[in-house]
Amino acid sequence: MNDKNFAAASLAAQAMGWIDPVTKAVVPPIHMASTYQRDEDNGFRSGRIYARADNPTFDQVEATLAALEGGPKALVFSSGMSAASACFLALAPGDHIVAPKVMYWSLRHWLAGFATQWGLKVEFVDADKLDAIAAAVNPGVTKLVWLETPANPTWAVTDIAAAADIAHKAGALLAVDSTVATPVLTRPIELGADIVMHSATKYLNGHSDLIAGALVGARDDAYWAKLRTIRAQLGTILGQTEAWLLMRGMRTLFPRVQWACRSAEMLAQKFATHPMVDQVLYPGLPSFSGCCRCASRAASAGPSPRRHASICGSGPPRWAASRA
Ligand SMILES: Cc1ncc(COP(=O)(O)O)c(C=O)c1O
Repeated sequence: MNDKNFAAASLAAQAMGWIDPVTKAVVPPIHMASTYQRDEDNGFRSGRIYARADNPTFDQVEATLAALEGGPKALVFSSGMSAASACFLALAPGDHIVAPKVMYWSLRHWLAGFATQWGLKVEFVDADKLDAIAAAVNPGVTKLVWLETPANPTWAVTDIAAAADIAHKAGALLAVDSTVATPVLTRPIELGADIVMHSATKYLNGHSDLIAGALVGARDDAYWAKLRTIRAQLGTILGQTEAWLLMRGMRTLFPRVQWACRSAEMLAQKFATHPMVDQVLYPGLPSFSGCCRCASRAASAGPSPRRHASICGSGPPRWAASRA
């Protein structure tokens, strides 16, 4: 299936139209092998050596995600945390990085703890404010600017294209945790990002039945090779069954996210005028700071209202209303 001739929703639904070349099965099998046969001269010309580095079951889901995000390569990981931390471990002690004050709490904790002890100089900023990013980057010293947009849990939104410009002028890479937006709503690589990260545990899989992470690179370069090596050396690979399940979940990514958007918008509008609710945090509401930037960058307002009402993942909306 040629990804240039099909809509993104069709590429996802057809999982790139891959057919198993041996059996002609329309759903390629799960490969359980942990190791691969050597050639007679002791080589590995199949390109596969050992399943801590790679597994053929990853190929289809990685190719599909790469096509959806518009990058040449993707890597699946054992979790969103292992995918994200690989991006920092690929740097060197002493490197300066800029990260948001509002971001997934466990990654912020890891950056402030392990990554800092390991030697990274981590500077947390209000990443929805471009001035704050510009003031923090140090040309030639800052190696990575990390964004999460919309950010968990406030849904703060950052202008990815403008942040990419700031990062690149300083000689830094821009990585974007796009877990909340998904490629249905935002394609960070088109906006200048170098790396897109996902907690595939969330919308990409969509069924709350696995933990997975993924990276998509804008280029197959030396940094990308390091990320691949880190996954192989640390063994933070996805299980083969989870990779297969993730591919199955991603087939319905578009209808699930589109439906979640409709539900979120309906709930946000309802709660915005509810007398028991102080504030609704939802990037699609005109009252939300960052609303216009979000609207100009995303296909439609995606994430759920949060703090007083929230919808998570797929399936029936789970929401809770409370006073702050
Ligand atoms: C925005 C975001 N990034 C990263 C993560 C970490 O992903 P995982 O739980 O798959 O390790 C999460 C988890 O909730 C998240 O919400």
